[in-house]
Amino acid sequence: MKTQVGIIGGGPSGLLLSQILHLKGIQSVVLEQKSRDYVLGRIRAGVLEQGLADMLRSAGVGDRMDREGHLHGGFDIAHEGQRMRIDLSGLTGGKSVMVYGQTEVTLDLYNARDEMGGIVVDNAQNVMPHNLKAGTPYVTYEKEGVSHRLECDFIAGCDGFHGVSRQSIPETVRQEYEKVYPFGWLGVLSETPPVSDELIYNHSDRGFALCSMRNKSLSRYYVQCDIDEDVENWSDDRFWEELKSRLPTETAAQLITGPSIEKSIAPLRSFVSEPLRYGRLFLAGDAGHIVPPTGAKGLNLAASDIYYLSEAFIQYYTEQNETRLNEYSQTALKRIWKAMRFSWWMTTLLHRFPENSDFDARIQKAELDYLFNSEVARKALAENYVGLPY
Ligand code: APR
Ligand code: PHB
Repeated sequence: MKTQVGIIGGGPSGLLLSQILHLKGIQSVVLEQKSRDYVLGRIRAGVLEQGLADMLRSAGVGDRMDREGHLHGGFDIAHEGQRMRIDLSGLTGGKSVMVYGQTEVTLDLYNARDEMGGIVVDNAQNVMPHNLKAGTPYVTYEKEGVSHRLECDFIAGCDGFHGVSRQSIPETVRQEYEKVYPFGWLGVLSETPPVSDELIYNHSDRGFALCSMRNKSLSRYYVQCDIDEDVENWSDDRFWEELKSRLPTETAAQLITGPSIEKSIAPLRSFVSEPLRYGRLFLAGDAGHIVPPTGAKGLNLAASDIYYLSEAFIQYYTEQNETRLNEYSQTALKRIWKAMRFSWWMTTLLHRFPENSDFDARIQKAELDYLFNSEVARKALAENYVGLPY
């Protein structure tokens, strides 16, 4: 098989890239190692920056998001029993975020690719990119025991943190930057009405908690937990009790609990691999970087990578000009590092760090007090939360 852009990974990055390229007449093939059911069963975050929402609309996949998603013009931060609203719209000249699950975004993209006859190979095993430095890269893979070879002009590595693409860049070329946080997030999805119309990020002496949602009858809650915690030790009752103990008393009293329909633990990590290009291979999304979920930036960063990468491919194929391809890594990394900083900052602001000294704890409290009392501080938070420009 032959195509123009071979895409490894059928998560949001790979599917969005293939959709945008298709609309510009550029061919691609997506190779995904898991089944579609598996990909669509993954519960991930659900806050989309305006830039991503606009990209989905212009890629022809924004209709359901506009019907079923919810625009949020603010969120709350709770600390020492007080809740304070971060007025995103007021502080950013009218910007907002869209609450719409990543799982739904992925489903919309799969449906659009199917309708347009896009090729997405699922259950592709042993996917391996080759010949990256030569002008003729190709990807080999197996499907149902049969070996295949996909020849292409370029390879987009959109295969997430554990994928094969980043590993195909020689270690001597790769520079990795990493910070692993000493805790995880225990998340619960429940068919209960959200405790509030907007998200609440809670700092408490017992640790961080987040009240989020998917819609009016589906809530998503998280509590900070030990890094080696076993999800089996968390009954629903224990989860709800722990969550309540971290919320302001009035908020806890309003919480409606119910059986969990999903419960999982995720570690928190900041990670960047540089450069994002090696010869004819380009990394995008989680394949190149990971952020802790506190700032809701994972999916949004994948989107800005895809924006820069798709623009670069479009320039190459329509103008025979490689400038943007040559600049891709540098351009994308500039925005990535700003989101790294913001996600690290928000994580540091709101979590309980086991190793913190009394001094560190006082600084954290002062930072929260500053945020509660300074519009300038809230403006900086809001500007980053709604998303820096592409
Ligand atoms: N071969 C083919 N596909 C692979 C391989 C491989 N060797 N390894 C991983 N994949 C697939 C995974 O099964 C997954 O479907 O690549 C896809 C990568 O998808 P994601 O991990 O979702 O990464 P990405 O598309 O970059 O999405 C960005 O935003 O909210 C964050 O981390 C969250 O997934 C999210 C991300
Ligand atoms: C979620 O709804 O899953 C969610 C929302 C905001 C975050 C992280 C996760 O910062």
